Amino acid sequence: MSRIIMGIESSCDETGVGLVRLHDDGTVELLADEVASSVEQHARFGGVVPEVASRAHLEAMVPTTRRAFEKAALKLSDVDAIAVTAGPGLAGALLVGVSAAKAYAAALGVPLYGVNHLAGHIAVDTLQHGPLPAPCLALLVSGGHTQLLRVDDLASSITELGSTVDDAAGEAYDKVARLLELPYPGGPPIDKAAADGDPAAIAFPRGMTGPRDAKFDFSFSGLKTAVARWVEGAQRRGEPVPVPDVAASFQEAVADVLTAKAVRAARESGIGTLVISGGVAANSRLSALARERCAAAGVELRVPRPRLCTDNGAMIAALGAHVVAAGRPESSLDISANPALPVSTVSV
Ligand code: KG4
Ligand code: ZN
Repeated sequence: MSRIIMGIESSCDETGVGLVRLHDDGTVELLADEVASSVEQHARFGGVVPEVASRAHLEAMVPTTRRAFEKAALKLSDVDAIAVTAGPGLAGALLVGVSAAKAYAAALGVPLYGVNHLAGHIAVDTLQHGPLPAPCLALLVSGGHTQLLRVDDLASSITELGSTVDDAAGEAYDKVARLLELPYPGGPPIDKAAADGDPAAIAFPRGMTGPRDAKFDFSFSGLKTAVARWVEGAQRRGEPVPVPDVAASFQEAVADVLTAKAVRAARESGIGTLVISGGVAANSRLSALARERCAAAGVELRVPRPRLCTDNGAMIAALGAHVVAAGRPESSLDISANPALPVSTVSV
């Protein structure tokens, strides 16, 4: 008998409610994926304001849940288990989702699973491309995360190979967009501007690629500073800033480092599959370069469609389904949100 899993996401600025069906053969089918975003409320601040995000989750949680059930043509009483993002993320934002999930689980008398947001970004790929081979590698790139992970078991065993030591990749996009007077979030407008620019116009630095640097860690703050210096230099000389060239050269530096390190990890570990997920996975140059380099290295590349890459509830429902299918223990109703939940803890 198949089971319905509801997933709730509220770690950052997206309130997501997803519904999936876990079939007896272990496959997971997407039934609904409703998201309410507070991104527009943060735009004028150039980044997510935690208190504003928490308030928006509070207002959106019930309407988003209603929409998901309408979309799937299901009733609350059809739900067999509830998964919720327990961390990492913004404390106040996480708390809204965790509280809602506990209330639904208690009211419906179904098990609750507090799960890891980062693992959800990987699990979501199974909704589009089917079961993931184990082991596989995952590169998570978003406004909040930049991590290279080794996945031995999606439901229980994920190891961090490296992560950013300063800014996340998406954060670098957002900061550089601000320098170039492009709107927030900065990824899409930079991607668009870069299409008309020359990626070799400016040789921006490739962070953490020195012989003594950690092989699989990343750094983007030096790159951001280099772009700022370059733009200031042009302005000081009274020259117009060639936005397409700066955008293309910056984007090239980010895509180069991300793909080089991910492919190196695949080569050194002998792992044949790489999943790239998170908002920055939507970047056209990142996916093109990853495709090129993975093909050359004989690595299978999986990139979920953009809608699944950004934060959503379906990714949490998908992970919940894997955790349920693996027979992992359910969470206690007194779990709390953990803003610093390590990726090695898939469910709490
Ligand atoms: O996963 P996401 O929606 O939210 C979290 O941060 O968790 O990712 C948002 C980030 C933003 O920093 C945004 O600028 C970036 O993803 N992004 C992109 C593109 N689309 C979104 N970065 C580069 N190129 C894009 N096309
Ligand atoms: Zn995320």
